[in-house]
Amino acid sequence: MIKAVRGTRDLLPPETAVWNFVESAVRDVFRAYNFQEIRTPIFESTELFARGVGEETDIVSKEMYTWLDPPHVYEVLLRELTSADKEGRPPIVRPEFLESLGSRQSLTLRPEATAGIVRAYIEHKLWDRGLNKLYCIGPMFRRERPQKGRYRQFYQIDAEVIGPTSAGSDSPARDAELLEMLATLLDRLGIADWNLELNSVGCPNDRAAFNDALRKALEPVVGKMCADCQRRAVTNPLRVFDCKVPEDQPIIQTLPRISQFLDEGCRKHFEAVQEILKAVGVPFVLNDRLVRGLDYYTRTAFEFTHGALGAQNAILGGGRYDGLSEALGGPAAPGIGFAIGEDRLVMSLQESTTADSVVRKPDVYVAPLGAGMNVEAARLARELRRHDLVVDLGDETFRLKKSFEMATKAGAKYILIVGENEVKADAFALKNLATGEQVSIPRAELARRIKIQE
Ligand code: HAM
Repeated sequence: MIKAVRGTRDLLPPETAVWNFVESAVRDVFRAYNFQEIRTPIFESTELFARGVGEETDIVSKEMYTWLDPPHVYEVLLRELTSADKEGRPPIVRPEFLESLGSRQSLTLRPEATAGIVRAYIEHKLWDRGLNKLYCIGPMFRRERPQKGRYRQFYQIDAEVIGPTSAGSDSPARDAELLEMLATLLDRLGIADWNLELNSVGCPNDRAAFNDALRKALEPVVGKMCADCQRRAVTNPLRVFDCKVPEDQPIIQTLPRISQFLDEGCRKHFEAVQEILKAVGVPFVLNDRLVRGLDYYTRTAFEFTHGALGAQNAILGGGRYDGLSEALGGPAAPGIGFAIGEDRLVMSLQESTTADSVVRKPDVYVAPLGAGMNVEAARLARELRRHDLVVDLGDETFRLKKSFEMATKAGAKYILIVGENEVKADAFALKNLATGEQVSIPRAELARRIKIQE
């Protein structure tokens, strides 16, 4: 038997109804803040993520699904090397083929959405169209070790605010607006007990001073740390904070914090964000160890956690990335955004919102009874569906007992019998499956009657 690949999974009904419930609440809330949807490709050139997310991050250095395109190049090469040509001459590799080898492109399944959205912003000059609040919902791919709440194909709900400084995109008001929107969304979904952790990771100036201090602090101790940290200490010391090796944690605890290195501008910006959050009543805690796992962050960085999720408790994460557009060859365009892990959001929701409470079961199961009745039943079902009723339809070969079983399994409220007598009388037996009450209803009255009884 062929099974779903490790780290991937099928989302089945009725749980998919919860996903739809989440996505429709998200779309409503985002609309109220003037966000519009963007859909970018699932795969992009590898360079986008290497430059955007950062070579030294775990995501880029360990977790990406990357391949050379065309992917079948090795099979073709083998054929070229082993088969004689039409004239029977010994195998040679054609120059055209060698050329095509040189033009192969490295492609990657997107591990996150921000880099792709910023690429699209630059490619389509979205600033000219005044598009600066964008969101996207879809699958992302990371080759992580699967566990509860962590998959290799997972879903993100991602939102970004990006634009020229003249549009206010670097203002602390944007940071606060985004965080307030998230609080509103989580509250609206009925997710209690969330916790907002907030930090500022500063700007490139602060980062240079911080990196120097980190290198200095690491120098005498890095020999005792894991191989990854030894490399990071040289290439990108900030990434030492991503280390999960238990033995390294006591050393990491003693390292300097970015909060000690913020310049005046960054400090003021961060204070202004906090001031608005307090004014609008969004609770947060400061955490100056929060550096996030992607290199593009500047200034505000944040995560929302949820207690019930266990080890993978970050329900969403995000922050500001004022230099990303320029790093990708675009104009200066400060930005801030977040991505919600939809799999985790749905998990934390399941305590309060069950699939049963959001799924819409059939209002009525139409049961054709006897030969020739499929035609009549199809007609009736079509009429009822036009009245916005959810209608499930049986088959004339089913005996009455089987139709009842099918209707009950489907969770229908009513079963509607369509037999020869009913068709002749143009009135149909409608039975309430919960109460057992059965009445004969004229065709013209059916939809209204089924609705009234809801
Ligand atoms: P991230 O922290 O890497 O940020 O991912 C955001 C969220 O996606 C996480 O908090 C988690 O809920 C979810 N997530 C990540 N990996 C997995 C996984 N393997 N399985 C299940 N859920 C996962 C970003 O991706 C940034 N692009 C966010 C951002 C947008 N920053 C600015 N704009």
